[in-house]
Amino acid sequence: MDEYIVEMRHITKRFPGIIANDDVSIGIRQGEVFALLGENGAGKSTLMSMLFGMYRPDLGEIYVRGEKVDFHSANDATAKNIGMVHQHFKLVDNYTIAENIVLGVEPMTRKLGFLPAVNMKEANREIEKLSKEYGLEVNPRNLIEDVPVSVRQRVEILKMLYRQAEIMIFDEPTAVLTPSEIEFLLKIIDSLRKAGKTIILITHKIEEIKQIADRCAILCRGKLVDVLDVNSASAQEMANMMVGREVDLVTHKSEPHIGKEVLNVQGLTVLDENKFPVVKDVSFCVRAGEIFAIAGVSGNGQTQIADAVCGLEEAAQGSITLNGQDITHTSIRKRAERGISYIPEDRQSTGTVMDFQLSENLALRRYGREPYSKKGILNFTKIRENAEELIDRYDIRCAQGPKTIMRSMSGGNQQKAIIGREIEEHSDLIIFVQPTRGLDIGAIEKIHNQILAERDRGAAILLISLELSEVMELADTIGVIFSGEMLKIAPASELTRNEVGRYMMGVKEA
Ligand SMILES: Nc1ncnc2c1ncn2[C@@H]1O[C@H](COP(=O)(O)OP(=O)(O)O)[C@@H](O)[C@H]1O
Ligand SMILES: [Mg+2]
Repeated sequence: MDEYIVEMRHITKRFPGIIANDDVSIGIRQGEVFALLGENGAGKSTLMSMLFGMYRPDLGEIYVRGEKVDFHSANDATAKNIGMVHQHFKLVDNYTIAENIVLGVEPMTRKLGFLPAVNMKEANREIEKLSKEYGLEVNPRNLIEDVPVSVRQRVEILKMLYRQAEIMIFDEPTAVLTPSEIEFLLKIIDSLRKAGKTIILITHKIEEIKQIADRCAILCRGKLVDVLDVNSASAQEMANMMVGREVDLVTHKSEPHIGKEVLNVQGLTVLDENKFPVVKDVSFCVRAGEIFAIAGVSGNGQTQIADAVCGLEEAAQGSITLNGQDITHTSIRKRAERGISYIPEDRQSTGTVMDFQLSENLALRRYGREPYSKKGILNFTKIRENAEELIDRYDIRCAQGPKTIMRSMSGGNQQKAIIGREIEEHSDLIIFVQPTRGLDIGAIEKIHNQILAERDRGAAILLISLELSEVMELADTIGVIFSGEMLKIAPASELTRNEVGRYMMGVKEA
């Protein structure tokens, strides 16, 4: 028993209609980075919320430093030196960084010798000391609402340190960070480990585990699959265990059969609301059977190109033709009818109506046509049948079938629904913007295969992705955008990952 600083034995936790944790037993060693790997909904957050005192297990026992505990609140866990950084940070926006860190455990002083008051001077000193010690630079006087996500996360870590946490739980900490911020965070975690802290890292990203963790527990649909030594397990093994089936980490792509030109964009310029050009004189074409991927760092104009092609943004200059027909000033609906499908970046506001049923969302593209409606009257039987078919074909998991309200579904399943609906239009041009953002590997694999299948059917695909690995895996042709300009267009086979990365940073000739 002494081998473990934390032991969770036979933990079961039920929520209405679901067993979130089913007889899970894990032991965590002092001073290790212990990863908890699993797809969305596998039960990772639930398990750790019990260790942090936010839920109580229905069955099972928790031991901390060999002693059985029964936490009723997070305060109980804090008293045992356990801290947690939640997936959605829990900070007070209009408080300063220092106020957030000391909230609830403020050092006190006496004003005029007798009035109790918070000793912010001492708090600031202590915070400064901790920031220096762990390389977590912050300005304690800044308001939370004024600082970016990466700094808020540092505040959460400082908050744990300030409360003298020895066991630190991080719930999907990298989900909100950019690649360089991720690197930085992993270094911080490493230095916490070196300082003797025990780290529990929840994630669904295997590469992060490979990089930082000592051991890894894999959860799949509420059950513990295995606990592995990270060094001796392959990424492939971990992926299979996590998804519960054989997954392909390598995309199998056949030679493209490139056909006629479908989309032609010439000299496109798009202005933002201040009349500032965000897309500058961009030209490219996408042919049938081809995946044309636009690579670039977020905010360099790529979404505006997609929006201009489907009609959500206006072209200030230039022309857009689809199958030889000028559509530069055609309405959104007409463009869609002429053969454009669009999977937008923001699946919650542009792609769907969140408070509508799944069946209605799946009919959004077709309710105006027979057999889904006739003379303006909707045929609800056909709309339901359409939904049942797509739920089945695209493996959309929904609690109440076609009647499920879109908002209640997980992000991955919302995305499957949108992709299914758009693919079923059999359009000549399909635009995918960030199609796999935030999804786990099982879902990513399926979506990549669907994109390739559409390309092989003969569709022209415009793919916009911030994930360089996604671009490198799928693209036949790559265009790199920087600051609104298309710096380079070349066949994917002629560009290395590093070259694309350099163009993404604005280096013109590699
Ligand atoms: N408070 C809750 N009420 C009802 N169901 C919940 C609650 N929290 C989690 N669940 C369900 O329990 C399952 C596991 O969720 P979670 O632990 O958040 O998974 P993960 O963190 O691995 O993505 C999911 O099906 C989720 O919908
Ligand atoms: Mg979670």
